[in-house]
Amino acid sequence: NVFFHKTNRFYCHFQIKNLIFHTTFPGSTFEQAKSHPRDVAVLSPEVKTPIPGPKSKELMGHVQNFQNTKALSFFCDFERSKANYLVDADENIILDCFQQISSMPLGYNNTELIAVGKQDNLQNLLINRPAMVTFADMNFPRLVHDSLLRVAPEGLSNVITMGCGSCANENAYKAAFLWYMRDRRGYELPPAEDDEAYSSCVMNQVPGSPKLSMLSFEGGLHGRTLAALSTTHTRPLLKLDMPAFDWPIAPFPKLKYPLEEHESENAKEEARCLAVVEDLITEWSKRAPVAGIVVEPIQAEGGDNHASDDFFRKLRKIALKHSVAFVVDEVQTGVAITGKWWAHEHWGLETPPDIVTFAKKMFIGGYYFNDKVNWKTPSRIGNTWMGDPAKLHLLKKTIEIVKEQRLKDNAQHTGNYLTESLKSLENIHSTALEGSRGRGLFCAVDVNGSRDKVVKEMLQRGVLVGASGPNSIRFRPSLIFTPTHVDIAMDRLDQVLTSVKI
Ligand SMILES: Cc1ncc(COP(=O)(O)O)c(C=O)c1O
Repeated sequence: NVFFHKTNRFYCHFQIKNLIFHTTFPGSTFEQAKSHPRDVAVLSPEVKTPIPGPKSKELMGHVQNFQNTKALSFFCDFERSKANYLVDADENIILDCFQQISSMPLGYNNTELIAVGKQDNLQNLLINRPAMVTFADMNFPRLVHDSLLRVAPEGLSNVITMGCGSCANENAYKAAFLWYMRDRRGYELPPAEDDEAYSSCVMNQVPGSPKLSMLSFEGGLHGRTLAALSTTHTRPLLKLDMPAFDWPIAPFPKLKYPLEEHESENAKEEARCLAVVEDLITEWSKRAPVAGIVVEPIQAEGGDNHASDDFFRKLRKIALKHSVAFVVDEVQTGVAITGKWWAHEHWGLETPPDIVTFAKKMFIGGYYFNDKVNWKTPSRIGNTWMGDPAKLHLLKKTIEIVKEQRLKDNAQHTGNYLTESLKSLENIHSTALEGSRGRGLFCAVDVNGSRDKVVKEMLQRGVLVGASGPNSIRFRPSLIFTPTHVDIAMDRLDQVLTSVKI
């Protein structure tokens, strides 16, 4: 690396596989610059081709032979990508504020994670993937203890792993149904002589397959497997032509931002939605009783829709009052991005949720659950792989890094800066932007005009952001995002809004 002074920053080049990165390190002394972890290096994005570029297009052509490529934006060069910067197949260096749909806690190629990837047990698990439902690896108990259980939400001492967020929710619903039936019946299994229960369930009929439901919210997304999809209410194309469970759907509060300026009208809107939740639980008790309520702490894909901590406290109380399971989907909000490991920790609940589901930045899917909803008999929930335990090594190291580098604080601090910066841009481009909002680094702003055009034009200027809901831009950067990265992103957003008709 070559360092030289440039105003009050140090500047260096480094090279990964023939690609030269130009980097500045914050800090005014050479020692500070040298000791700064390379993972937070700040680069100016460099875009050399339209995105997707020729190489990406060529690869899309190959994929098109066996798969529809319409949802692909471009191809990534993961070997060359680093920290907050994604390098694409055409060598464009992109500041990534979306991080593989919010699933990379530490950005690309974190040096400590690379070292973990070389550990024997991890490699061994990759080669000999256990059928965990029956043949778990002998290191599994220790690994779970050092990873998943270190970040278990308060009150939830049980955990089960799954492959992805959809599987996590799908199986969490099953746990809620099992609990509900045991609770109402008074014991876990019908007696062996109750032949009807056992024979009818095999044929999908009552009484063995009871009519029960999960209550979900308009604008929620909980996955794309069939039961999870029945609780997903975002883009129609995810659902069109698919059979769905006919389950109750409550309105999610439509709040005005900034929240602190609209407290009383927002409180009314939340009270309205909570009243509907209670009405639905009562109404459905004859048709398909509600066994559980599933909710995201911030509706992510649905449009970065927030609700107050008070709303969630009251929702939790409703679940207790009606004795239905309270399932919090932290697939996107988990892992420190909101400033706490789990977003529901902000709520100040008197009684913790019954189930908390996770995936994405946790490297593995699954859910935590309390003793109340735990099932007692085997073969009730499980599948062959139940996720991939090799990933727990990465989670373990990530938990250590988040703690050592105080990344929850960084999410809070840089997140506040991001929301404030969005608000400043909103003042400058008052007809184009509104509704800046965020908790930690989980931030968004609404676009009046073509949101998709803004996202596309930003990418063309080297900054990748996501879309959520009908008109929001979502920011889901890594936990090592810094205010200087925010400045770069804001600069490109400003450029787009100044120079492009949206
Ligand atoms: C809140 C939430 N739940 C569930 C899912 C589904 O997760 P997966 O795509 O891993 O199945 C997602 C995916 O974006 C999500 O954001």
